[in-house]
Amino acid sequence: MHPISSRPLKHILICVNDREKGDCCANVHGQEIYQEVKDFVKGNDLSSKIWVTRTRCLGFCNNIGTVMVIYPDELWFKHVTKNDVQKIKDFIVDAVKSSP
Ligand code: FES
Repeated sequence: MHPISSRPLKHILICVNDREKGDCCANVHGQEIYQEVKDFVKGNDLSSKIWVTRTRCLGFCNNIGTVMVIYPDELWFKHVTKNDVQKIKDFIVDAVKSSP
């Protein structure tokens, strides 16, 4: 095991988990939300500062919106919908602007 010294400004985890029965983030547009945030980061050349990772179940499955976590802030969100994507983009822009 070898430690990695490179760290992102923010690491955004978005659940895209899919399951056959019961609530899951795939059924509430988790993949689309992930892709839109990822494309925004890549399109603005922020991939080294803002990491966006799709995950499996984060444990807060529901039928309203996907689950997202932002580190290092340790901000957890559930019920994230497509209507929230602009807020996520704004958060990213603000984070980059306020970074040293
Ligand atoms: S399937 Fe996304 S939190 Fe469980």
